[in-house]
Amino acid sequence: MITALRSLQFLILLFIELPALAQDENQFIYNGFRGANLRLDGLANVHSSGLLQLTNNSKQRTCHAFYHLPLKFDTSSSRLAQSLSFSTNFIFAIVPEYPTIGGHGMAFNISPSMDFTQAQANQYLGLFNSSNNGLASNHLFAVEFDALKNLEVGDVNDNPVGIDAGGLNSTASAPVTYFSNKEGTEKNLSLISGNPIQVWIDYDHEVEKLLNVTIAPIRTPKPNRPLLSTPINLSQILLDSMYVGFSSSTGSSSAANHYILGWSFNKSGQAQNLDLSKLPKLPRKRKSREKMGLYITVSLMTLSIFLIITGTAYVVWRKKYEEVREDWEQEYGPQRFSYKDLYKATNGFKDREILGAGGFGKVYRGVLPSSNIEVAVKKVSHDSKQGMKEFVAEIASMGRLRHRNLVQLLGYCRRKGELLLVYDYMPNGSLDKFLFSNEKPNLNWAQRYRILRGVASGLLYLHEEWEKVILHRDVKASNVLLDAGLNGRLGDFGLARLYDHGTNPQTTNVVGTVGYLAPELTRTGKATTSSDVFAFGAFMLEVACGRRPIDLQELPEDMILVDWIFEMWKQGAVLETSDPDWEVGMVKKGNVEASAEFVMSSFPSTSGKASAFSMSSNESILFRGR
Ligand SMILES: *[C@@H]1O[C@H](CO)[C@@H](O)[C@H](O)[C@H]1NC(C)=O
Ligand SMILES: *[C@@H]1O[C@H](CO)[C@@H](O)[C@H](O)[C@H]1NC(C)=O
Ligand SMILES: *[C@@H]1O[C@H](CO)[C@@H](O)[C@H](O)[C@H]1NC(C)=O
Ligand SMILES: *[C@@H]1O[C@H](CO)[C@@H](O)[C@H](O)[C@H]1NC(C)=O
Ligand SMILES: *[C@@H]1O[C@H](CO)[C@@H](O)[C@H](O)[C@H]1NC(C)=O
Ligand SMILES: *[C@@H]1O[C@H](CO)[C@@H](O)[C@H](O)[C@H]1NC(C)=O
Ligand SMILES: *[C@@H]1O[C@H](CO)[C@@H](O)[C@H](O)[C@H]1NC(C)=O
Repeated sequence: MITALRSLQFLILLFIELPALAQDENQFIYNGFRGANLRLDGLANVHSSGLLQLTNNSKQRTCHAFYHLPLKFDTSSSRLAQSLSFSTNFIFAIVPEYPTIGGHGMAFNISPSMDFTQAQANQYLGLFNSSNNGLASNHLFAVEFDALKNLEVGDVNDNPVGIDAGGLNSTASAPVTYFSNKEGTEKNLSLISGNPIQVWIDYDHEVEKLLNVTIAPIRTPKPNRPLLSTPINLSQILLDSMYVGFSSSTGSSSAANHYILGWSFNKSGQAQNLDLSKLPKLPRKRKSREKMGLYITVSLMTLSIFLIITGTAYVVWRKKYEEVREDWEQEYGPQRFSYKDLYKATNGFKDREILGAGGFGKVYRGVLPSSNIEVAVKKVSHDSKQGMKEFVAEIASMGRLRHRNLVQLLGYCRRKGELLLVYDYMPNGSLDKFLFSNEKPNLNWAQRYRILRGVASGLLYLHEEWEKVILHRDVKASNVLLDAGLNGRLGDFGLARLYDHGTNPQTTNVVGTVGYLAPELTRTGKATTSSDVFAFGAFMLEVACGRRPIDLQELPEDMILVDWIFEMWKQGAVLETSDPDWEVGMVKKGNVEASAEFVMSSFPSTSGKASAFSMSSNESILFRGR
């Protein structure tokens, strides 16, 4: 009884197991290939994640992955209803070695054998060789995903999907597009993007004998329109027992990683869709060694470019505020300005801050950042180092000069080839603007007289009242500045010395301005307080007559102001020379003489010397005028 029961149990088990086994051979689904029963060769391997990898980037390799058991494809078609029909769905990805060039691609195939030792790599996809390609005796059916265009096998373009029967000259092929159900349009798809791509291959043998190949990116529902829908009679190709699987190959110059993420196959109906959530992930785009090298190179280059840029910026920044500072300057510390402060004060020496430009350089208005004091900054270009020490010493001592008719020198700064002198800011600018341009109002005699007196007083201070004799050497209207109260202040004193120091003593430069140079100065080249007084006289006549010492607009004989006045004076018409713009009603008579008288009395010692000058000197005119 017990034995009978056991036999029954066995029989029941057998009946339950057998159809299950039969069904297993007809259909399977792999959401990832962990534990899958596959027959692999070549480089093919299953990663621990369940990812099936066919080729990697090694060149000229082939590999295959087949379901381990042969499937029954009954070609006699009379016995079983769905003998040749099949349906399969899989997801693959091609990650090429170089982004734009694929390997030779991969194929889904149905083959009578799993032995491909005779097959070649490259365009033969590990399925054929050059002699058996295209022979019906191969009994091999494939759907290829070819990443390289191969003229030899008549590919449509470098992105084709083809149905191959017996050989790689596809029976049907098309460039890869997919139909978007949502948008109702065909869309391009790259096989070698490295992104997972889904494929459905459905063959109905019974009714239509149509083979459909449908393709779409992952997570896109199966398109309603297949990419290829080809009538084909597989009973002429397939044999009764066939293996299903994949193959891929790489070329001699181009390679790619071919991956399969999941696969379902069904001979009894529609292949199930894969469960995307269970699929293995593609490896992170690992960089090959060369790529790593490239990345390192690129990173290093980026880094060094960054360093160069910041370095340059720093150097530029340093350069921008760079100064020349020497040990001997330490004692002048308090009078030294930092270039950065001056740069900021003048808004970076902007053109709109320019107050004027003279023989020595441009003058900029500025507001010192720390104290908000308005200053005028004179930029003097000076390349010679020679004499700089003496000159700076002089500047420093001149910084100690205090007189209400001198423009106060506040300090200096030195850069390569450049000297910056910082002065009190004179809101009314230089006197020549008042005399010779229309932008400033006319000055009446009282104002002019006060200016002359002031300048004379300042000059006297330089010559006689300070601890050292300071020659101005460039007295003229443009070097006389007017403060807020229109008082004349002599500026730029001693600056001419800069050029004197810098030059060879044997060929002393005559510094000053033509028209103000005392006659003996051009002969001897030796500046004295007297030559300053001569220039002052020319300046005085300039103010009194409202004319430049040399006026190119006049008749040649009247061009030199001093000569002209002297001529007029000889004719007894010296008053004709006075500025016609002077206020009406002012007493003109004696103005020139009066100014001369005052000035001469302000220079007790130099006036004597001045009187000894040649007849053409203006002092002599003035003297006689007395
Ligand atoms: C490809 O895989 C084989 C076997 O794992 C390995 O020896 C070879 O170095 C790999 N090639 C590349 C380019 O990664
Ligand atoms: C091609 O493969 C067949 C077997 O399929 C083999 O007999 C033949 O020698 C091979 N030819 C070449 C050139 O490898
Ligand atoms: C494949 O197609 C190419 C080009 O169309 C042709 O030259 C070649 O002979 C074909 N090969 C076979 C085996 O049909
Ligand atoms: C698709 O590819 C074809 C051929 O390469 C090209 O002419 C077409 O412009 C592409 N379409 C889109 C939408 O990229
Ligand atoms: C193949 O596609 C055509 C056209 O969309 C369709 O009529 C046919 O039913 C499809 N056959 C299979 C087996 O999916
Ligand atoms: C398909 O091929 C088989 C075998 O060659 C043949 O018997 C059958 O008639 C063919 N069917 C069609 C529809 O061409
Ligand atoms: C095969 O098709 C049958 C009938 O549609 C279905 O029940 C079964 O789940 C399918 N199996 C696979 C693995 O796709």
